[in-house]
Amino acid sequence: MTDLNAALPLPVRSDEVLARLAVRRSASAQLLAAPGPSEAEIEQILHLGARTPDHGKLFPWRFVVLGPQSRADLSEALAALAETQGRVDKDLAVLAKLANPPLTIMVVSTPIQGHKVPVWEQQLSAGAVCMNLEHAADALGYSASWITDWYSYDPAAVALFGVKDGETIAGFIHLGTLSEAPLERPRPVMAHKVERRP
Ligand SMILES: Cc1cc2nc3c(=O)[nH]c(=O)nc-3n(C[C@H](O)[C@H](O)[C@H](O)COP(=O)(O)O)c2cc1C
Repeated sequence: MTDLNAALPLPVRSDEVLARLAVRRSASAQLLAAPGPSEAEIEQILHLGARTPDHGKLFPWRFVVLGPQSRADLSEALAALAETQGRVDKDLAVLAKLANPPLTIMVVSTPIQGHKVPVWEQQLSAGAVCMNLEHAADALGYSASWITDWYSYDPAAVALFGVKDGETIAGFIHLGTLSEAPLERPRPVMAHKVERRP
């Protein structure tokens, strides 16, 4: 239970966190291998992931922890669905991303329609949760891959994951360990992205 009277510590400078944030990178889901997080680490990652801003304290998201068995079953069902839909080979190939990683957390955006907090803001909070999960995993020494792919949007596929009407898959956060350091990827020229006003 959250102690709402507890005084939280003020932030202090952490060069360790700054250095880590400066080099954090996603992994390719196919390259994520064992070990994945332990049960205690999964709990920690979920708790830290949920410690995310959201307008109105609505907590408009939920997690589904998908172990290897459920993902193997889902991959099979999705492959069958892809066949019936006449999908291209690439759509079948990306199912490997779902099957390979040691652990996957599906983040589902569950906005309340018609609430005074706009749905867009509630969805943004689900995105922030995804990013927080990645930071938590990174701090524990794991790599992460945030994937959506076609099965996050196809209605029949979404139903296989148990996602209900009005909900959206914000992402599959695949977690595991990389055996080789990832390469850097292009980053924006900050001068093109930042405007300063007095
Ligand atoms: C909402 C969202 C969905 C994504 N879906 C996919 C996807 O389906 N397939 C893919 O290859 N990458 C996808 N990505 C991109 C990967 O997460 C990408 O590897 C990552 O953004 C690399 O950036 P980083 O190294 O700074 O973390 C997605 C990213 C986001 C934010």
